[in-house]
Amino acid sequence: MSPSLLPASRILGTGHYVPERILSNRDLETMVDTTDDWITERTGIRERRIAAPDEVTSDMAVAAARNALEMAGLTPADLSMIIVGTISGDRPMPACAVYVQQKLGAPNIPSFDISAACAGFIYGLSIADQFIRTGHKKYVLVIGVELLSRFLNWKDRSTCVLFGDGAGAVVLGPAEGTSPPRGILATRLYSDGSLADSLVIPGGGSREPLTPELLEQQRNKVHMSGQELFKFAVKSLVSCAKNVLAEANMTADDVTWVVAHQANVRILTQVSHRLGISMERFVLNIHKYGNTSSASIPIVLDEAVRSGKIQPNDTLVLCALGAGISWGGAVVKF
Ligand SMILES: CC(C)(COP(=O)(O)OP(=O)(O)OC[C@H]1O[C@@H](n2cnc3c(N)ncnc32)[C@H](O)[C@@H]1OP(=O)(O)O)[C@@H](O)C(=O)NCCC(=O)NCCS
Repeated sequence: MSPSLLPASRILGTGHYVPERILSNRDLETMVDTTDDWITERTGIRERRIAAPDEVTSDMAVAAARNALEMAGLTPADLSMIIVGTISGDRPMPACAVYVQQKLGAPNIPSFDISAACAGFIYGLSIADQFIRTGHKKYVLVIGVELLSRFLNWKDRSTCVLFGDGAGAVVLGPAEGTSPPRGILATRLYSDGSLADSLVIPGGGSREPLTPELLEQQRNKVHMSGQELFKFAVKSLVSCAKNVLAEANMTADDVTWVVAHQANVRILTQVSHRLGISMERFVLNIHKYGNTSSASIPIVLDEAVRSGKIQPNDTLVLCALGAGISWGGAVVKF
């Protein structure tokens, strides 16, 4: 491996948490005009998890973080930074990450949120890698967490059937000392604001401060143009995966596992076809959890690590796309 491709940071531990309550497609049939068949065939989703009424976003994040820290053999006192990818934090202000820092009992380390929706975890991973690469930080906790069930219009069948709640986390640390070298080999991040309104929570910001009328119109909930996003997602995930692999001096043939955002199994099938990587090489859990936005990659990653599917030295390509439109990818020698 050429020195310029040597990894600076490595995933030392992974963890996840999902709420206990399961909401199945059959349950949704009683709530909106939909069917189990429609949801399963069009998305691959069979059920999703819904947070308990007294559960908040940072609770889920902390549960996932504790699991990742345990696997890494570290404690909150060892952390030097916390990055949380979320668009459904405890409050609009302050960052969800500061509640995580407080609940973990971590020192007064920089703790901040990344607002890149479904790509939030990849953005966090890339930022953490840069801080470790420059030697500024040693152990960085990166979390993807969403409690989107509180930001959905439960009368809108085109969105409410798609999303679920959950959290995933990784602990990154210096990659030095691994032979052969293991760690994050490349990351790539992108945005296209011309499509900003295709997946949006329109109300509640400076553009549409909330009024009783806007609340009545559910302007504080997720609105999506699904078809437009579908085509863009396939094209962008494919080019992103190819670009980040090229940056790591690799091709699709080098990939052991694709760890992609779990938005729609039909998107992933088309990505698989266009990349020339068989669906058997994609880790999947969308049937159980639906689209958990920024949490989806770290959740499916942790499940695959703990089940023994992903092994040390496997080559992973991570890729995600979501509201923004923002997207990104990473190549990891696990
Ligand atoms: C949302 C998505 C599943 C919809 O699937 P689709 O095949 O594009 O379906 P369409 O939106 O074209 O709708 C087809 C029909 O199903 C209907 N429909 C929509 N939701 C439905 C539901 N839950 N149950 C039953 N019918 C539904 C529509 O009203 C439409 O009916 P019509 O033909 O009578 O007008 C799909 O477009 C998608 O996954 N998009 C990408 C999402 C994404 O990647 N987001 C970014 C990352 S978060």
